[in-house]
Amino acid sequence: MSEQLQLLITAEQIQQRIDELAREIARDYEDKELLLVAILKGSLIFAGDLCRRLGHNVLLDVIQLSSYGDRGSSSGVVQIKKDLDLNIEDRHVLLVEDIVDSGLTLMHVRELLSTRHPRSLRTVALLSKPEARLHHAVIEYLGFEIPNVFVVGYGLDYAERYRNLPYIAVLLTPRDLV
Ligand code: IMP
Ligand code: MG
Repeated sequence: MSEQLQLLITAEQIQQRIDELAREIARDYEDKELLLVAILKGSLIFAGDLCRRLGHNVLLDVIQLSSYGDRGSSSGVVQIKKDLDLNIEDRHVLLVEDIVDSGLTLMHVRELLSTRHPRSLRTVALLSKPEARLHHAVIEYLGFEIPNVFVVGYGLDYAERYRNLPYIAVLLTPRDLV
């Protein structure tokens, strides 16, 4: 395999930050029922760890999107590949995203879900690359800001690999290594 990994955020740092995020979220929603919507597949692991720290009033659903066109450009199109099962009308919805890069995915999902009239709609993202932002993306709860590098692990993939790593690493391609 020609890629190399460089550790960026340890498993312990991730788990500790999720503890803090869960406390903040639990405090904000108090005893309200909360519907977590995980954006597949990258946020699966994060959503799994987060939801188990949120007490009892938590429902889970998933949505999967596909983006066409050049993802790094402003002209990308986001479509639904797998829609939610649950009706979100009048519910408190918390979107769970692995990483916000250009912001295109998050902007589209928020626009789409808000047309279904949730009672409230917020986002928790584990990672954000502010330098890569091309679209306005609202993130109410954020784990870590990272530089504009390609990362894998903890749900994030490169060609479907590395999702199962318990830590986040920068993926160095042969070009970075020369
Ligand atoms: P955005 O629409 O440009 O914000 O991209 C968001 C999606 O692109 C994320 O949900 C990830 O699936 C993917 N993505 C963006 N940056 C990375 C990365 O560094 N590693 C792995 N996937 C990424
Ligand atoms: Mg994703």
